[in-house]
Amino acid sequence: MPAQIEKRAELYSGKAKTVYTTSDDEKLVLHFRDDTSAFDGEKVEQLERKGRVNNQFNAFIMQTLRDGGVATHFEQVLNPSESLVRRLDMIPVECVVRNLAAGSLCRRLGIEEGRELEPPTFEFFLKNDALHDPMINEYHIRTFGWASDDEVERMKEITFRVNTILTRLFLDGGLLLVDYKLEFGRFDGEVLLGDEFTPDGCRLWDAKTRDKLDKDRFRQGLGGVVEGYEEVARRLGIALQ
Ligand code: TMP
Ligand code: ASP
Repeated sequence: MPAQIEKRAELYSGKAKTVYTTSDDEKLVLHFRDDTSAFDGEKVEQLERKGRVNNQFNAFIMQTLRDGGVATHFEQVLNPSESLVRRLDMIPVECVVRNLAAGSLCRRLGIEEGRELEPPTFEFFLKNDALHDPMINEYHIRTFGWASDDEVERMKEITFRVNTILTRLFLDGGLLLVDYKLEFGRFDGEVLLGDEFTPDGCRLWDAKTRDKLDKDRFRQGLGGVVEGYEEVARRLGIALQ
């Protein structure tokens, strides 16, 4: 923590992270916990080391994205399981890009898992566990005022820019970026990437064997969940503490 900033009260506890206020109104601390949830919180387990792995994984990805010209809320790692971020006014929608068919796309549209999606497709979901994060479209976002049209355009543009940067990064580590979810917030009139990018919120397959190395290991009871995340980190050259 920068010497002048102190961690204060718990602001919010999500399914896998707890957010704390700090002595600086514009900064928050994200604490990545070992809790692992799926199916909108119906299945929850503690997986040893997951919080630390995800915090350091997220830091590496956020720094890579910043170097690639994507504005994010990330400031710095504070300790193995916590990072300092800029406080955003969060937009309650989730942006998903899919390069290969998996998960809910297969269930909803009857597409076979693993089919290459050309061009990659994009979906919005409403961030609402009680409603099981329903899929929404741009008209819903406009009608209910969740974001302005300009913000919708920025979120799509940034989400696809992230795809270009990360598809290459993971491929260099022998991994396919199948799909991922991003969340955005407002700061000073700008749309910034917020939340996290970890194997909890994306799908990553071994490029040769198509073995799953992400949270589908947990959702599908395949075991070796954190070991999968650590394997991804190793391939990206992240030195985990
Ligand atoms: P889906 O196949 O379940 O719709 O998810 C697509 C991708 O987005 C997958 O990598 C998981 C991620 N995701 C989340 O992490 N949280 C969510 O609430 C949603 C809807 C998707
Ligand atoms: N992130 C959501 C949950 O934890 C959905 C999922 O990952 O399956 O319930």
